[in-house]
Amino acid sequence: MHAALPNRIPEIGVSYRSHDPRQRLIVALDVSTAAAAQKIVVAVGDSAFTYKVGMQLYTAEGPQVVRDLIASGRRVFLDLKYHDIPNTVGAAVAEAAKLDVSMLTVHAAGTGKMLRTAVDAAKARPGLMVLAVTVLTSLDSHDLENIGVRGTVEDSVVRLATIALANGCHGVVASAREASTLRAELGEMFAIVTPGVRPAGTSAGDQVRIVTPAEAIASGASHIVVGRPITEAADPAAEARAILGQMSG
Ligand code: C5P
Repeated sequence: MHAALPNRIPEIGVSYRSHDPRQRLIVALDVSTAAAAQKIVVAVGDSAFTYKVGMQLYTAEGPQVVRDLIASGRRVFLDLKYHDIPNTVGAAVAEAAKLDVSMLTVHAAGTGKMLRTAVDAAKARPGLMVLAVTVLTSLDSHDLENIGVRGTVEDSVVRLATIALANGCHGVVASAREASTLRAELGEMFAIVTPGVRPAGTSAGDQVRIVTPAEAIASGASHIVVGRPITEAADPAAEARAILGQMSG
């Protein structure tokens, strides 16, 4: 991967709400080849530093795509949503730390020991943020009831986020709607990474509940994840810049 950035990006502060919107924009590389990913990264240029590598790209291309992104000066959010016995998750997080990723995801439902083991393993890479997924937004209260979880989805989100933070996680992945509840209930000192963001005036695609960048930030998101609006734009850099403007405005 070429087009290296000139400087190493400084780590994000403890409140995770940087004044520089470029520190808060994450571009989702939901593609299946390293070549397609590289094309997007080059097209975005220096409008964004952090790229989300999820299970599609990672399964297709493996860790080399992560190494190449980092070697070119980008940060990587490794979104593999680890959920297994503590020993296995800890070992996987240790490997992710060796790759030098900046952020990764675990399922909060793995609970205390798994989360603590993940957080401990992440310490090998200072600044590596362990983010917890609470309730997948594809699930509703009936789905939760079917697996024996009572109460509203929101109750479960807050409960799981509380468990995640109590066990050392640095933040959560949450929709904008959940973000405002989580800020009200749990405060400011953790990251909230929010997907489902669409620039003002664009189509929703298959996202059901969407918010604009400004709405996500106002809801309490420390970071926003944007995929297709940037990756499928005719001019990804211009689209990313427009989103940065909306985040600041
Ligand atoms: O292309 P789009 O902006 O919809 O991509 C959003 C990214 O965020 C995708 O990688 C998707 O898997 C992820 N995501 C989401 N909704 C969630 C959790 C993750 O869209 N609730």
